[in-house]
Amino acid sequence: MLPAPTMRLRFREMTPDDLDDMAALLGDPQVMAFYPAPKSREDAARWIAWNQENYAEHGHGLWIVETLDGDFVGDCGLTWQDVNGTPALEVGYHVRAALQGQGFATEAAGACRDLARDVLHASDLVAIIHPENTASERVARKLGMERREDDRGGAIAVRTVLGMSL
Ligand SMILES: CC(C)(COP(=O)(O)OP(=O)(O)OC[C@H]1O[C@@H](n2cnc3c(N)ncnc32)[C@H](O)[C@@H]1OP(=O)(O)O)[C@@H](O)C(=O)NCCC(=O)NCCS
Repeated sequence: MLPAPTMRLRFREMTPDDLDDMAALLGDPQVMAFYPAPKSREDAARWIAWNQENYAEHGHGLWIVETLDGDFVGDCGLTWQDVNGTPALEVGYHVRAALQGQGFATEAAGACRDLARDVLHASDLVAIIHPENTASERVARKLGMERREDDRGGAIAVRTVLGMSL
């Protein structure tokens, strides 16, 4: 299963061949400003393996997002996360620094929201966001999400949960 292509973007599953691009993305201090630390190359390899497990177990995960010409944009997709002890379907997104601010995260996340609603028949979607990550919160709001609660269970002390019914 993959989200439908958008006007400018397409999706595909991550593979170990994406390690150079994913290590550059997740190792960039600007992209990882709201995470505990940028990820090492080994962490990026584990990230790819985690998503491959997600595809096998759930049929979805974070996918590679690329332009219709095949340029690497980042990742975006649907994963199960824990929100205060309850499983929640989350849309997540990372866009490489050089391509931020062009609406790519909103466009990719919109395709993932549509897949969650129309193919997974999910009733609910969340985004779990560091309270100072204004750009990420803005993307969630443009998808139609509103602030719901604080999550106190993750590695980052308190994160804001935005969500929407589908
Ligand atoms: C969050 C992220 C994916 C957004 O990607 P993007 O392609 O630039 O997003 P979009 O262009 O679709 O939309 C970004 C919105 O945030 C706004 N924005 C960007 N930087 C901002 C800032 N510093 N303060 C306030 N708003 C900001 C933009 O103006 C835009 O809103 P608008 O359309 O109302 O003008 C990108 O910033 C990123 O990869 N950040 C690091 C990874 C991350 O934090 N991911 C989310 C984890 S929860």
